[in-house]
Order: sequence, then C-alpha cells, then structure tokens
Amino acid sequence: MSANYISPISMEAISSLCGELDKNNSINKSDYERYHVKRGLRNEDGTGVMAGLTRICSVEGYYILDGERVAKDGKLSYRGYDINQIISSCINENRFGFEEVIWLLLFGDLPNADQLASLQEVLSVCRTLPDDFIEDQILKHPSKDIMNKMARSIMCLYSYDEDPDDISVANVLRQSLQLIAQLPTIMNTAYQVKRRAFYNKSMYLHPINKNQTTAQYILNQIRSDKKFTDEEAKLLDIMLMLHAEHGGGNNSTFSTRVLTSSGTDTYSAIAAGIGSLKGPRHGGANISVSRMMNDIIANVSDPTDEGQIKDYLYKILKKEAGDGMGLIYGMGHAVYTVSDPRAVILKRSARELAYKAGYEKEFRTLETVEKVTPDLLREFKGTNDEICANVDLYSGLVYKVLRIPEDLYTPLFASARIAGWCAHRLEELTTNGKIIRPAYKSVSRKREYVTLDKRQ
Ligand code: COA
Repeated sequence: MSANYISPISMEAISSLCGELDKNNSINKSDYERYHVKRGLRNEDGTGVMAGLTRICSVEGYYILDGERVAKDGKLSYRGYDINQIISSCINENRFGFEEVIWLLLFGDLPNADQLASLQEVLSVCRTLPDDFIEDQILKHPSKDIMNKMARSIMCLYSYDEDPDDISVANVLRQSLQLIAQLPTIMNTAYQVKRRAFYNKSMYLHPINKNQTTAQYILNQIRSDKKFTDEEAKLLDIMLMLHAEHGGGNNSTFSTRVLTSSGTDTYSAIAAGIGSLKGPRHGGANISVSRMMNDIIANVSDPTDEGQIKDYLYKILKKEAGDGMGLIYGMGHAVYTVSDPRAVILKRSARELAYKAGYEKEFRTLETVEKVTPDLLREFKGTNDEICANVDLYSGLVYKVLRIPEDLYTPLFASARIAGWCAHRLEELTTNGKIIRPAYKSVSRKREYVTLDKRQ
C-alpha cells in the first residue's frame, strides 16, 4: 500500500506566491479580440475552429445560414450510420452491439458475422494482462482515482510491449485491440484495490470468462457474486455504444490526435486521452452530475419544485453552492444546441428504469434541472443561446440503477471511448502526416534583463 506523501512545501508559503503569479499571468480579455485569437479554439459565434477532416464520426448541432449559426436537433453518426439506427437495430435483434461499434470505428464499415466473431475472439484473448502486471503495477500502488490508475497502467504497459514505438498501422492496430480489451480489466482491478485500500472492503478478482461480451465481462468482474441479468448487460452495452465516439474535436480525442501527430507511442497517446476525459468539463461531468443531484436533494425541500431548483442552480452559477466551479453539470455542449441525441436515448431508458428501481425523486430532480437551466443560463449570461441536456445528465442515474459504483462512472466512459481514440489515432497516422502545432501570440512587453544584485 502506498502511504500518503506529506509535501514539504507548505500551502501558506505557496499561497503568498499566488498573487505574484496572478499578476504576471493576467491577459486582458479584449486582447483576444484585438489579435483575433480563437479562445478555446472557438470562432466568435461559438462554433469550433475547423482543425481537421475525419471519416470516423459526425456530430451535428447547428447549421450555418447567411453566416449565422442556427440551432437544430442534434445528430450523431459513426462512419455515416445514425447512432439511433445502430442502437435500435441491436435492441430489435436482441443482441449486443459494442463490439460491432468497435469494428465499425476502427475499420470503417459494419462487420459481417465472421468478422464480428473474430473480433470477439481477439478481445477475449487480450483481456488478460501480462504476467505479474496486476501484482507489480496495480495492487502495489492503490490510487484514490481510478482514471489516474488507468492512465498509469497504460503507461506501464509500454514496458511490457516488445515493440512499443513502432507506429506502423499494423503495430498500432495490434496495440489498439489489446488496449481496448485490457482497459476494462485494468479498470476493475484498480477499483478492487481502491475498495480494499480506501473503503476497507473485500477485494475480488474473478477469473476471466472468455465467452463474454465487453458489457457482460464488466458486470461479471465488478459484482461480487458475478450475477447479472441479460437486461442489465444489454443496458450497459447501450451505454458503451453511446460513449464510444464523438468526433475529432472533443477534448480527449483531440488530445490523442495532438500526441499522435508528434509521432509518439500508442501508450502515451491513449494515456493523454484518459487524463483529458477525467476533467469535470468533459467525461468527469458524470460524477459531478451525481454529486450535484445529491447536493440538490439534500438542500432543497422539494426537489421537484421548479422555483426551488432554479434558486439553487442560481447559487451554483454564482459559485455559492456546489463544487464552486459555477457549472451546472450535465447541461450544455460545445456543438449540440437543441438536443444531444445521446441524452435523448438515455433519458428514455433512465425514466423507465428509475421509476422501477425506486429512484423517481432522482429522475424528477434531473428532469427539472434539464427544464429550468436553459432560461436560467440565458438570464445569467445575458445571451440568447440554445442549451440542452448532454449525455452526462442521465448517465449516472442509469449506472446507479445498474448498481455500478460512482468510482466507475468516468472509467466506464473511458473503457468505451478508447475505441474512438484508437480509431482517431489510426486516422491521424494514415492521413494527416503533419504535427499539430497552433500558435500563441505573445503579449509580453520586451524587458531588459536585470542582474541578481540589482533586483528589488
Ligand atoms: N453551466 C455553467 N455555465 C455554462 C454551462 C453550464 N452547464 N454551459 C455553458 N456554460 C457557459 C460556458 O462556460 C461559456 O461561458 P464563457 O463565455 O464565460 O466562457 C458560455 O456558457 C457559453 O458556452 P458554450 O460556448 O455554449 O459552451 P462551451 O463550449 O464553452 O462549454 C461545456 C461546453 C460542455 C464545457 C459546458 O457546457 C459545461 O461546462 N457544461 C457542464 C459540464 C458538463 O456537463 N460537461 C459534459 C459535456 S458532454
């Protein structure tokens, strides 16, 4: 077990330096306009700066008419196939679909039955980690944060690869398939270690059942009795399909593409994706929604009363409540305006499941957040923007119904999104061929160097 490290640097000493740091790092907001800098790589109308071309995914939330952004219902397609069709076909045929999505994203077209079976086989064989990896790299150094542990474990796998730096398509494809299969194993092992080290609970590492789909495998590993229903596994499978990919511009995929463009190894590029996804403005929002929901329920006498929720959300925006970030989690999106198709699909499942499982209050709280936030945010920001619920608003509730612990919400997102990261890494390697390297305009004034003896 790793002990807590007490930093020799006192927070008091550091705090006194922060004023200095703030003073020398301030940048006038007006300078962004003056120098035509696209803050957050965004154009003035909020649309993203076009940074690349992709065949993997299309994310649509508006269209441009006479140079103006016009809001429209969100649309998501993987390799040209509408996500709604992919999911409804799996539901109608009562079969699992995440593996089909992995194939579609990596290779560009729907797999036939033989191709799908061969992918299943490869994933099953690759679920196992190298000899002693669990003992040496995961058990010995428990982490409070599973995402951090996943990124670290991916970096460690570099040392077990006989050919880690070869970035030929064949080698990167081999590494990608291995990592897609191994990430759920790493996730579960890291979680089990956390249970024992930080919650004083039993740790269970079940043998790997090679005849399971990814969703079945995950439920099998995280439940102490290995028991789950087919309905539960198919629901988790839908969650994995919905989270598998979201275009080249989302923060974690773009991070993966940025690192890939430098020619670095697969392990470094995928670890970067995990590090990015952890952030509460990105994948980490699913945990933040869950905490925000509990906070609202604890602080509002009637969580279905629109007025009370609105007042509490206003406090959150003013940073007087919640985690102090001023964000209403689960709401808003860089591309989607009127609706996020993933949230629409999830809300349908969440409503039915929540009512059945006794989480009606939680569902109605989130639904009220969804209803009152757009007007509230427009009032608060003084804008006219359309804003909708995003994928994270209802995903935590679905996981809660599946009895999945909060620790695993964002790691599950990563276990699905790794398929998209790998597809984009392969696309970056095969198509772009240029290092991604935007520019920063310096707004420092020129200064004469002062020797140490003359400084105040
Ligand atoms: N709560 C508070 N403020 C929000 C917000 C929210 N849910 N959604 C947007 N805003 C703010 C933005 O921070 C931005 O403020 P700024 O002009 O001071 O920078 C402004 O409204 C306009 O935002 P917009 O351009 O529409 O979105 P964005 O691309 O800057 O932000 C998100 C997109 C997703 C980061 C943002 O909506 C957010 O932080 N949401 C909450 C976190 C979340 O659920 N993330 C999961 C995304 S799938």
